[in-house]
Order: sequence, then C-alpha cells, then structure tokens
Amino acid sequence: METPHKREGPPLPQGELSGLPGFYIPSETLRVIEDFLFSGFHVMLTGHSGCGKTTFGQVWAASRGMAVHKVNCGAIRSPRDWFGRHEFREGTGTVFVSTRFLEMLERPGLIILDEINRTAPENHNPILNLLDDNREVYVEELGRHVRVHPEVLFIATRNAGRHHTGTFRLDHALEDRFQEIRLELPPEEVIARLLAEKYAISAEQAEIVARVTVKLDRMYEEDLLSQTTGMRPAFAAAALLGRGHSLETALRYAFATRYSGEGGPESERTLVLQTIQGLVK
Ligand SMILES: Nc1ncnc2c1ncn2[C@@H]1O[C@H](COP(=O)(O)OP(=O)(O)OP(=O)(O)O)[C@@H](O)[C@H]1O
Ligand SMILES: [Mg+2]
Repeated sequence: METPHKREGPPLPQGELSGLPGFYIPSETLRVIEDFLFSGFHVMLTGHSGCGKTTFGQVWAASRGMAVHKVNCGAIRSPRDWFGRHEFREGTGTVFVSTRFLEMLERPGLIILDEINRTAPENHNPILNLLDDNREVYVEELGRHVRVHPEVLFIATRNAGRHHTGTFRLDHALEDRFQEIRLELPPEEVIARLLAEKYAISAEQAEIVARVTVKLDRMYEEDLLSQTTGMRPAFAAAALLGRGHSLETALRYAFATRYSGEGGPESERTLVLQTIQGLVK
C-alpha cells in the first residue's frame, strides 16, 4: 500500500456526517470512506449495478458543499482525451480546449472517475502519476506540469460482474492506488422508505416493491438470475404505482421485462414473474 499523501494547504473538514440526505449508506461505511479520502487515499466503489456507486460521490460532495466533477471514463478513447481536444475556431485557428477534468485538478473538489474500467488500460497511463504521491502530470498542449490541488479527492467506480461486457481488467498499478469499498443494496425497510419518500404510494406498495428488489438481488447472488436489478427498477415500479398503475403492471414492466423471455416457460422472465407472484400474495 502507498504511504498517505501529505496534505498541504488548509485542513479539510473533519466533522462527522450523520448520514446523507435521501441516500442510504451504513454509518461505518460512510466514515471509512471519508477517513480514507481525508487521509489522502483514493476510494474505489464496487458493487452491483444500481446500488449507488455513481450517486454516492455526488450526494456526498453536495452534503459537504464541495465542487464535484464526474468523468465518464467510457468516453475516454485515447490517452489525450483526459485533458482536452483541439478545436478549430473561426479567425483564431486551432485552439486547445481543456476538459473540465483538467480544470478541476487545480482546484478543491471531488473528482469521480466513473466506470474507470470502461476505458482500455493503456488510456490510464496519463492519470497514474496524478493518483500517486507525484500528484502531477505534464500536459503537452499546455506546455507545463499540472499539479493536483492538495484538496482534490478522488473516487472511482467500477462495474464488475457476469453481465458487464465492455469492461477491462484493471491494471494492478491503477488498482493499487485505490482502497476498495463495496456498496450493497439498502435493507428492505430502507428501500421501502426511500420509495415512499419519493413517490405518492402506500406503505404496503412500497414494502412489496422493496421485497421484490431484495429477493431478485439475492437470486442473482445465488446464480439463479443473470442480472442484478439494483435500485433502478424499484424506483421505476414506484413511479408507475404513483401514477395509478396496478401492482401487477408496475412490477411486470419495471422488473420482469428486464429479463429474457427466451425459452418461454423456462425463461428467466417466467422465473421472475413467478417469484413476483409469490411475493405479492
Ligand atoms: N443506497 C442508496 N440510497 C438511495 N438511493 C440509491 C441508493 N443506491 C442507489 N440509489 C438510487 O438508484 C439509482 C441508481 O444508482 P447509481 O446510478 O448510483 O448506481 P450505480 O451503482 O452507479 O449503477 P451502475 O453500476 O449501473 O452504474 C439512482 O437513482 C440512485 O439515486
Ligand atoms: Mg454508475
């Protein structure tokens, strides 16, 4: 493990947050993430799809009053894409336009490297030095070194799992620069509360949607399903219920249609529909 980066400049806030508005995270996990970040370690969030990896950083930065920028790493197609692109401007000719990422490196804030394993490993080279104790990189187009501001924090997210095509194995050098934290689906009663807070649905409806969500997630863990559902279909079902659809319709459109109907009665979709029926009764 690397030695922690010695911070220069004013200290970052150290007070404890009781929680994050509208976002569930166990208090211990939240504390560990914060303590890693404030000690100069970067954090890699992993976990099933839809379990809050991308949202966490945004909600957390907002609650801390911190500037935040999310880099969609899947859009990085060449090593130079991190920093900017050349554009032709009428009258001026070709100019270099910096990315927001490059600008954010030099001012306090949180940078989220979202889906960091969706860009090929060779594209990670320019950011390796940014993420270690050097905290600087030479940007040819600017003709100077860019030093990462002492109060810049990094969170990366990574999608892993059976159904994640288009992802790359992370190079050890990059992986080693992060402390990994796994985010889990919230407990059933918390999901029900989050749904009921956001949509005009009954407590009973919220509980059923939460039950289905947790059950399908467990079935994925047990290898009975090929896909995780995360929180997205739960919100989708609650939205339909809030607009007056029946429970049957809401659950079918939000959850079951995500699974393949191939194989008819033997299909994953049939299994999901049967599971839902069993939980609604
Ligand atoms: N713990 C949570 N508390 C409240 N809302 C959550 C939580 N986890 C996920 N959500 C909600 O579920 C949705 C999906 O979350 P998000 O996009 O952060 O998932 P993700 O883990 O990044 O998924 P993917 O791996 O597919 O990118 C968002 O609307 C988010 O607000
Ligand atoms: Mg995400």
